[in-house]
Amino acid sequence: MRIAMIGTGYVGLVSGACFSDFGHDVVCVDKDEGKIARLKQGQMPIYEPGLDVLVGNNVEAGRLSFTTDLVEGIAGADAIFIAVGTPTRRGDGFADLTYVYAAAAEIADALDGYTVVVNKSTVPVGTGAEVERIIRERRPDAAFDVASNPEFLREGAAIDDFKRPDRVVVGTNSPRAVEVMRELYRPLSLNEVPMVFTSRETAELTKYAANAFLATKITFINEVADICEKVGADVQQVARGIGLDGRIGAKFLHAGPGYGGSCFPKDTLALVHTAREAGTPFTIVQAVVDANAARKQAMADRIVAACNGVQGAKIAVLGLAFKPNTDDMRDAPSLDILPRLIEAGATIAAFDPESMDEARKHFGETITYCDDAYATMAGADAVVILTEWNEFRALDLKRIGGLLKRRIMVDLRNVYQPSELIPHGFAYHSIGRASVAP
Ligand code: UDX
Repeated sequence: MRIAMIGTGYVGLVSGACFSDFGHDVVCVDKDEGKIARLKQGQMPIYEPGLDVLVGNNVEAGRLSFTTDLVEGIAGADAIFIAVGTPTRRGDGFADLTYVYAAAAEIADALDGYTVVVNKSTVPVGTGAEVERIIRERRPDAAFDVASNPEFLREGAAIDDFKRPDRVVVGTNSPRAVEVMRELYRPLSLNEVPMVFTSRETAELTKYAANAFLATKITFINEVADICEKVGADVQQVARGIGLDGRIGAKFLHAGPGYGGSCFPKDTLALVHTAREAGTPFTIVQAVVDANAARKQAMADRIVAACNGVQGAKIAVLGLAFKPNTDDMRDAPSLDILPRLIEAGATIAAFDPESMDEARKHFGETITYCDDAYATMAGADAVVILTEWNEFRALDLKRIGGLLKRRIMVDLRNVYQPSELIPHGFAYHSIGRASVAP
């Protein structure tokens, strides 16, 4: 089949590359000329494990190409995916749909032959209907259907999530569109991946409900962690104890500094607004949004307390991205925590394996950028683990002990066990577990 993917952001690029790897002919379209030029040269705009090889192989096989020309890109397409950004609109928390509607109008003008227009961007309920209205108004003659096909890709594991998903959700009432969508995802039938066909509105809401539920699960275990610290319980054991219950499930029960990233913060806010507009306030998700924001601030206070004040202190920070295996810093806890530490009088020396360029855009000259984990720690008063990159999981604790001025570790991802730190004379503070003093 022939696919046009409008937007070469995270979702568009990964989805386009994976569809081409399934054997379809895919053209990725983006207005950003520099980005398309770089993609044509094999340079990826984001860090995602395996993406460069996947793109390279499929370009070479002639199944994947890039263009800035939308008309050329969508010519003869069986399906056109809209995968443009839907940032949070300033001021009111709603998803900004400007790019989605602009893409719909441009697609309308270039449609030829029956086409399924598929919304992959995360959009509020009713957006599919509006996309259909826009296209119909501009092109009353065109043969098309508008379907919703939300993505559930995790950054850092996006290719695997696309090729081995738990399910594929497709929202459309058109049997013809169902046929096209089945054909597009047919390679997944080998693994018997469930295809969930629903109405468009249901598919749109399913995406928000999934992300809001996961954000709630994380926030739940984060608050359990706070209780654990007060009553002398261990959050990791609680998580295991409840996670083995099949009704609860073990995933997304890892307590930490609060969720970040491109989806959870944005989608929870958007869902709260949608619910309020519908006259059915979503109080749980509102509480999650508030608790998560407060948590990031509280993490800075925790570091300050662990150091007995940070005025004039040097803090070594390991990890700046919102999670490992990505250079993405959108809504990363580091963005809240570091400025608060600086405000309290600390200087920061930081290292992240992939997001140093991104970090410079956010922090400018306010922090020191180091070449590796150990370089951050020379003469530092404490080391803080903010992101659980693999390379921070097996640090040479003896060496760290020699580098630090004071042996204080604040491990906001519970990468280490207290028993590992004790022999090295550390004061060790983690999440939802008793702190240990040297
Ligand atoms: C998420 C969803 O998982 C994905 O399905 C959706 O389409 C996009 O949003 P992503 O933002 O890439 O994916 O990352 P994810 O792995 O879900 O983590 C989100 C945030 O939650 C991160 O900040 C992570 O550190 C945090 N998290 C996750 C926890 O604090 N604890 C956990 O147990 C899991």
